[in-house]
Amino acid sequence: MFDFTDQVVLITGSGSPRGMGRVFAHAFAKLGAKLVLCDINQQGIDANVKELQDMGVQAIGYTGDLTNEADVDAMVNDIVEKFGRIDVLVNNAGISQKVTVADMTLSDMKRIFSVNMFGLFMLTKKVCEVMKKQNYGRIVHLSSVSGKRGGGVFGGAHYSASKAAVLGFSKNLAREVSAYGITTNCVCPGLINTDIWKSMSPEQAKPVIDAIPMGRPGEPEEVAAAVVFLASKEASYITGEEIDINGGSHMD
Ligand SMILES: NC(=O)c1ccc[n+]([C@@H]2O[C@H](COP(=O)([O-])OP(=O)(O)OC[C@H]3O[C@@H](n4cnc5c(N)ncnc54)[C@H](O)[C@@H]3O)[C@@H](O)[C@H]2O)c1
Repeated sequence: MFDFTDQVVLITGSGSPRGMGRVFAHAFAKLGAKLVLCDINQQGIDANVKELQDMGVQAIGYTGDLTNEADVDAMVNDIVEKFGRIDVLVNNAGISQKVTVADMTLSDMKRIFSVNMFGLFMLTKKVCEVMKKQNYGRIVHLSSVSGKRGGGVFGGAHYSASKAAVLGFSKNLAREVSAYGITTNCVCPGLINTDIWKSMSPEQAKPVIDAIPMGRPGEPEEVAAAVVFLASKEASYITGEEIDINGGSHMD
């Protein structure tokens, strides 16, 4: 049903070897998209881009820091020069830190926000300029269940606050850009089977799993399915929305 042939899909934080960004890239590639991967991790980007290219996918990579506006602007300008357009932006890059508010410093708070919210803002603003000119765009942000209910297993209040900020940002943006054929939506994953989950001992994992009605973590592919849907042409009347992908661990 979904066809991304000739569409240019930009995914941030896609240099992680076993993270969700790589899985999103493969999901879009299977549907015909041209991929642009970006990450602060050069080795990871090189490996993930090569993997796609070896499969015959048109893919390029950028190493850059999303918290640096000059990196962000240069990347977007270069993508437009190479591909002429950006159809889909997936704001996937994110960082976390397990710490209580009592032990949190202001610099911890600023560091988490600088990637999860400020970097996302700078890139989205720049990409929206491109999408407005083409009168088409799909933006999907990775928020989190912890942005809605707090209490992330691996994060702190700063992480929850940054992911809640993304929800508000997306809704406000939806009001501003709908007239240009641009939609902006969030996905809110719960616990997903990435490296951080695999690092937990069975004793640490048990109470976490017990709190999930489906009794298991989600797979990155299960998040990718929702991201692809929201990024598709078919999701044309959905904006300012969020999809929970959490096995029932939070329902609202
Ligand atoms: N894994 C989960 O259980 C889970 C649950 C809910 C939400 N999320 C969110 O989903 C997204 C992806 O999660 P993941 O588990 O795949 O993470 P991950 O750590 O595997 O990937 C995140 C990537 O972001 C990159 N990155 C960090 N700072 C950057 C910067 N300044 N500039 C550019 N790139 C930067 C990292 O290098 C990394 O490759 C994140 O936003 C995360 O908060 C994850």
